[in-house]
Amino acid sequence: MSIKTAIHNGVATIEIARPEKKNALTREMYQTMADALVAANSAKSVRAVLIQGQPEIFTSGNDIEDFMSSPPRDEDAPVFQFMRALVGCEKPVVAAVTGAAIGIGTTLLFHCDFVFVSDESRLAMPFVGLGLVPEFASSLVVPRLMGHVKAAEKLLLGDPFTGAEAAECGIANRVLPAAEVQAHARRVAERFNALAPSAVRESKRLMRRHSADEVMETIKVEAEIFGARLRSPEAMEAFQAFFQKRQPDFSQFE
Ligand code: COA
Repeated sequence: MSIKTAIHNGVATIEIARPEKKNALTREMYQTMADALVAANSAKSVRAVLIQGQPEIFTSGNDIEDFMSSPPRDEDAPVFQFMRALVGCEKPVVAAVTGAAIGIGTTLLFHCDFVFVSDESRLAMPFVGLGLVPEFASSLVVPRLMGHVKAAEKLLLGDPFTGAEAAECGIANRVLPAAEVQAHARRVAERFNALAPSAVRESKRLMRRHSADEVMETIKVEAEIFGARLRSPEAMEAFQAFFQKRQPDFSQFE
């Protein structure tokens, strides 16, 4: 199983476990994560959700082979179900990031309530380098978090950044030694066992109320452009270059 799910002591854990492909996310994996989030949201026994990867990798983002062979067709595609389930999750979501978090691995963090990263983590949103555009409302959230010029480094150039920088600009709560990240994140998630559950849910809803509509609207606008770009010659060149282990050549494009 490439996604492992478990419920223990009030915490629903979603573990990305496909280390041989650097935890790249396939349609099936998005579907399993979407289903697990929906189930956690309605399960009485669950007070918080924990998303984690493997010690050496959080996720290398969307599976690039999947991007080529079966790009998302409509809003019902597993990746959109996952996005909606995460954005709409009423319970606190905690992310434990060890190793690299690339593409959607970084952008999903903007929709979590707590993010803990390791001192070895590298985050990156290399969409433009793949001939794509930002997704999951990152074109809205990233400039707001860090201002346009810093956002341009991350979104236009796709420059990677450290866990420490993620904490400085408000993407992550704390940087911890890699060996402590998952245990710390779990302890934070378990703290919700002692709190009033409906007060937590209402408070989370209030915190997100002002931005909820524009986040959903942005995801929709981005998704349309992203979907078209997945089928573009620029993206095809980038995907082929990845599997041929070379730099893409965009010199022929205008
Ligand atoms: N989609 C599909 N396969 C992927 C993948 C992805 N996103 N990321 C890694 N893999 C595969 C590689 O093709 C390779 O497969 P192989 O063993 O069959 O050749 C295997 O996972 C190991 O990856 P490799 O690149 O050799 O590992 P690395 O340690 O040198 O580099 C990364 C790790 C994560 C830095 C690198 O794999 C990477 O940049 N991945 C793509 C990131 C990306 O652009 N994601 C999409 C964002 S929208």
